[in-house]
Formats: sequence, structure tokens, C-alpha cells
Amino acid sequence: MTTQTVRTTLLFGAILMLAAICYLPTQFNSPAARARDDGVARTPPMGWNSWNRFGCNVSEKLIKNTADSMVASGMRDVGYQYVVIDDCWQVSRDPQGTIVADPRRFPSGMAALADYIHARGLKFGLYTDAGSRTCQGRPGSLGHEWQDAATYAAWGVDYVKVDWCYNAGLDAARQYALFRDALAATGRPIALSICTWGTQNPWDWGDDAGHLWRTTRDITDRWPILLQIIRENAVRAYAGGPGGWNDPDMLEVGNGGMTTVEYRTHFSMWAMMAAPLITGNDLTRMSSATRDILLNHEVIAVDQDSRGTPALIVHDDNNLQVWSRPLEDPSTRAVALFNPTDKSAAITVRWSDIGLAPGDALVRDLWAHADRGVVADSFTATVEPHGTIMLKITAQSYVAATLPDPVVPPAPPAEAPVANPNVRYPYLSDLTPTFADSALGPIELNLSNGEGGAGDGHPITLGDTRYAKGLGVHAPADIRYDLGGACTDFAADIGLDAEVGQHGAAVFQVWADGALIYDSGVLHGGMTPVPVYLNIPGVHELRLVVAPVDWATNYAHADWAGARVACSVE
Ligand code: GLA
Repeated sequence: MTTQTVRTTLLFGAILMLAAICYLPTQFNSPAARARDDGVARTPPMGWNSWNRFGCNVSEKLIKNTADSMVASGMRDVGYQYVVIDDCWQVSRDPQGTIVADPRRFPSGMAALADYIHARGLKFGLYTDAGSRTCQGRPGSLGHEWQDAATYAAWGVDYVKVDWCYNAGLDAARQYALFRDALAATGRPIALSICTWGTQNPWDWGDDAGHLWRTTRDITDRWPILLQIIRENAVRAYAGGPGGWNDPDMLEVGNGGMTTVEYRTHFSMWAMMAAPLITGNDLTRMSSATRDILLNHEVIAVDQDSRGTPALIVHDDNNLQVWSRPLEDPSTRAVALFNPTDKSAAITVRWSDIGLAPGDALVRDLWAHADRGVVADSFTATVEPHGTIMLKITAQSYVAATLPDPVVPPAPPAEAPVANPNVRYPYLSDLTPTFADSALGPIELNLSNGEGGAGDGHPITLGDTRYAKGLGVHAPADIRYDLGGACTDFAADIGLDAEVGQHGAAVFQVWADGALIYDSGVLHGGMTPVPVYLNIPGVHELRLVVAPVDWATNYAHADWAGARVACSVE
């Protein structure tokens, strides 16, 4: 090498090093996008996880056989994708701190296993823990988040489940955001499954950090636990949507502890709730009953519907329930007639309960794979004990009416603030929302929620006060506005409308650009209205959420009375 070449090489080397030094801090300091918006898990993830059936008994052989069965059974072709190894694959860290897979159980190593899975058109997932150890005492990721993310990416991992054992009092929202940033920095799209079992309210921040979040305790293969989990997950419906999903835990279908009818209910309710469909049985030996459930493409299509809106309970008569989920096609609803009781019962779905226009609708039974004909106004079926009939109902003449036309604006109320010429005080009921969803009826402008069509409520009344302006919704409800950063204050009186008397309960929340800035706690019918006043300078997305408090949402007529914002005049 000539002196000239050596000099040039050194110069280039120095420039490269400098570039690397300048690049690294920016790369590592720049926060990643909100997980919900990063393009991963636009529909609930589907796949298989080793834990429910195999516990710690995981091995390369099991994973390869499972991947092969996922293809051979046709599961891959109906959407199952991720093959996830849960706890116990890891044994130690090497002197550099790199996580080590059990060499006895995974002799070819994780990169080779990932290749095997990818070669079959599937994706590969692993489990770790945010704390110092996993729930089974294996090495956790605490203090190794960036190193582990880089290792997983180098192996070809596509999905990471991060558990919450030995968490040493960590702040979950921050700790999972750290994982999000570490995974994003690898440049590989990796789904992040948050597993705090519902502690620290992941439905409030989960979509910032990850793509799915456990809402409940661990599932077991027993009917009473299944019911409890459905109940607890259902009330979080408002939090799930494309890119971020409530996770009521993995499926037990086919593991033997429940009847076929109960497993059909399990699968139906997961699909209605837009839950991840992560199977947890032995895919290499499936009975035809198990296969028929896991491969029901009509039920899977509901789960995977691109609108991504989880179902709400729209009717509950002594536990005989009607659940409804709006689908991408606005004339269609997925409906579950759910009988958790021990006796057969007739359950009726009325079009008025599910926001479809009166008149004819086509009813299709998604378990029988059969049309039940075109029927008017309602449909009744007998549902066996613990059973679920799942329907797709398509209105024949659909009237698009998510939001009514504004009613004639009444005169401004006497309590209008003293006008400042540089500030305007629009009522939210005079602004156009970017998103509006109410469990029953449309969002009512300047009226209470009458549960049916537009304009069927009463003047908004909280306690003895009538309000000329405001929004009347039925929990769960979600209304969003784009304020463009121009407003500084938000004010409203909140409560359950006087028309429900002592009935009903709800929680009111205000979100500003994805952050929860107000939570009312539980408000009951008949309580004194609560004045809410919030500073919202520079906020773009203002989001008003009303969450239900319990299983049934009956009487949850929630008012954002007199809701208005103060904004600068451009
Ligand atoms: C926790 C999780 C389960 C499973 C086990 C593994 O209990 O909630 O889903 O991952 O740990 O140890």
C-alpha cells in the first residue's frame, strides 16, 4: 500500500467513524412513532403461542412441527401467521450480556429456527420479560432492552411478547415505550405484545408503546374464567382499534377443558371483541371440532375486519346478551347472540339496537355457514346454554346516519362567557368531529341520547339544569375533534342525563393528543353534575370518551353538557 493510499484510507476511516458517531446519538435519541401508527398489526395479530398447552416444554422440534401443521392444516391460508415461543427458551446471558437460547432444546439456534418459519410463509415470535427475570425465573430484559431488541432483530424475530414479572415497581408505560424505541431502532417491523395482565391500565397508554395489551389475568381452560375474562375485556372496547388491540389472552380452543359449544363461544367472543387470535393448542393433533372452530373463515373475517371496532353489548336481558360490531361495510353488523346461562333461551336482535335502518336485512349464520333469509326489523334464535350464535346482518336499504344534521341552534345560554374579540368560544356541537361513535343511537347534538335514530333524545338535563347545547351519547362512546392547536380551554358539565333517574353509570375521560388529561371516576345516575375545566393549549386532537362501568351499559345516557372550547381567532 502506498503512503497516499494509506492516507486516503485513514481519511475515509475517520470520516466514516465521525459519521457513525454523529448518526448514533440521533438515531437512539429520536423517539419512535406511536406504535399504533407504525403500520404493524393493522388487524388483530393471528398465530400460535406455546404457553397454554406446552408451558416450559418448548423445543426446536415442537416449533418446527407446529409451523408445519399451521401450513398443512390450512391455518396459514386463513390468516394465522405468528409462531411464538413463550417462556423458558432462554437459559443465561453470555459474558457480553447477550441472551442465550437453551442449546439442548434449540440446538440449531434461533436464527435457523426463524429461517425455517419464514421459509413457510410464517412469522417468528419470542417471549421476554420487562423485569429482571421471566415469570418462570429465566433471565429477563431489564437493563438489556436495547441489546435484546438488537439480538431479536438479528435472529429475524417479528413479534415480541414482553411479560411483567419481577418488574421491581417500574412504570409500565415508560418501560414498554423503551422497548418500542429499542425495537424501532432495529429497523425491523416487530409487533410488541404488552403483558401486564391489566395492571397499570394499559388500555390508557398501550397503543403508544405496543400493538396489543393484555387486559386481564391469565386465561385457564375453564368456563367460569372464560366468562370473567370476557366481562373484563368487554368494557375496554373503546381502547381497541387498528394498530392497537385489547388482548384478553390466548385461545384455549382444543385444550380439552371446555365443551365444543363453549369453545365456539370463546372463539366468537374473541372475534367480536377484535382480539388477537393466538391459538394455544397442539396444532399437530387437532380434532375436527377444533379445526372447524379455528378455521371458521367467516368468524375470522369478523375479527379481522379492517374497521377494527370492537363489539359492544347493545342489549342485556338477565344476562341474555346481544353484542354488535360495526364492520367496514356500513350497512353491515356482526352480531353475537350470547347465552352465558345454563338454560336454552331465545334471544332477539332488533335492528334498532344495532343502528340499522328499520326494514329488511339479510341474516347470515356464521357457524352454520347458512343464510337465514331476509327478515324485517328483528331476528330471534334459540341459543343453547353457554352458546353463541354469530350473525352477519346486512341492511337492504341503508341510511347513512352516523351523525345527524345539526338541529337548529338554540339561542346562546345566559352563562356565555364575556366575549373577548380575540377569542371565540365554539360549542363542540357546532364543530364537525373527525370521529364519532356511540354505543346506541348516533351522537346527539344538543339533545340527550335516545338510543335509537337521530334526534330522538330530550333536551340535555343534568340535575335540574337544562342545557341548550351539548353532546348526548350512550356509553361506550368516543368523539374526536381536530382543534388545530388553536384552542386554550375546554369546559363542560358532565353527568348522566336526568332522564335515566338513579340508573346507569359511566366514566368520562378527556384525551389531548393521545394523553389522558381528565378522568371523572365513576359517575352514577342522579349524581350532581360535575363541572370540568381543562387547559388545552396547542392541542390538536381533543377526544371525549365515555367508558362503561360494568358488563351492561344500560341507561348510560351520558351528557357533555354545554361542552365548548376557547380558541384564538386567526
Ligand atoms: C405470565 C403470562 C403468561 C405466560 C407466563 C409464562 O403468567 O401472563 O401468558 O407468558 O407468564 O411464564
